[in-house]
Amino acid sequence: DAGKSGYDHYMLKEINEQPRSLRQCLRGRVDELEGSVTIEELAGLSIPERVQFVACGTSYHAALYGELTLRERGVNAQTFMASEYDRASVPIDDETLVIGVTQSGETADTLRALRQAGQAGATTVAVTNVVGSSAARECDYTMYIRAGPEIGVAATKTFASQQTALTLLADAVADGQRRELLGALRDLPDHVQSILDESQAQEIAAEYEDAGAYFFIGRGYNYPVALEGALKMKEITYKHAEGFAAGELKHGPLALVTGETPIFAVVTGDDQRATKTIGNVKEVEARGAPVIAVTDGQSDVERYADHVLSIPETHGRVGPILANVQLQLVSYWLANSLDRSIDKPRNLAKSVTVE
Ligand code: G6P
Repeated sequence: DAGKSGYDHYMLKEINEQPRSLRQCLRGRVDELEGSVTIEELAGLSIPERVQFVACGTSYHAALYGELTLRERGVNAQTFMASEYDRASVPIDDETLVIGVTQSGETADTLRALRQAGQAGATTVAVTNVVGSSAARECDYTMYIRAGPEIGVAATKTFASQQTALTLLADAVADGQRRELLGALRDLPDHVQSILDESQAQEIAAEYEDAGAYFFIGRGYNYPVALEGALKMKEITYKHAEGFAAGELKHGPLALVTGETPIFAVVTGDDQRATKTIGNVKEVEARGAPVIAVTDGQSDVERYADHVLSIPETHGRVGPILANVQLQLVSYWLANSLDRSIDKPRNLAKSVTVE
């Protein structure tokens, strides 16, 4: 218990450690005056013909986010669940860069995928938290996310650090507009702190504690956040939860939506994506579903929501990192009031070393 620093669970401690772990991730890597990002460990790395991400679980969601950051810069990037990555059906050669995103650096599926890629001539990069892990030792390059040790089985601070690290990686290796983003990254730890100080997540969790299923929707960068929000909910509350690309809702899942299905809608910014997601929010609202908007207040999603979990207004790539913190808190407080085994959920392991 000494290691919990007064928190009831490691998970809550680790959620609260995020401002610090994000500062560590950013330290020495961002030069705002110069408008540049430097990752020492990646010196000499360049982007070849194609980039492939391989990862599992929460790290897979971070990889989806990383894929978007590269595609936005015109890079041909694709994400694979490591367990589905197969040299026989995926083009891999010496013009391929394969990035394994793995907190522990020991996940069997991810290590196998990285080894296969290396054998096929690809350059491999590990984005990991654990110094000296198998992934770090075996890959051509290793970028550390510097989140510090994570004890809770459900990944929290390491997800935020993975998202941040992958945004830095994209900026270090691919061209793009940086200045506005770098300012937002500088403010990120303080913005996370303000969410931790002011979140209404505990009250919202209490209100919807009895629901049988929870849906999470998001578009673009907020799609991986919706997936991660649902995964966290499953892992620690044992409740049925699903994350969907907001636009896919009408192609099937909408049939499951009733007045008893809380919908967490992640909407940041006020662009076309936000407008379309608000359209999807109206569709569930019309079916009587309670809507909880996780939003920076830029769009008018609040008009259609029963509750709002606010995040500070920031750069479009950083908002989704903040939105996830609110969803972590909702799952934590729901699991807490259900008296679940939060730090060690049934049937799950922190690191899965079998395929
Ligand atoms: C396990 C953990 C997850 C984690 C996944 C991948 O399933 O319970 O929290 O996301 O492994 O782990 P990795 O260490 O490769 O990120």
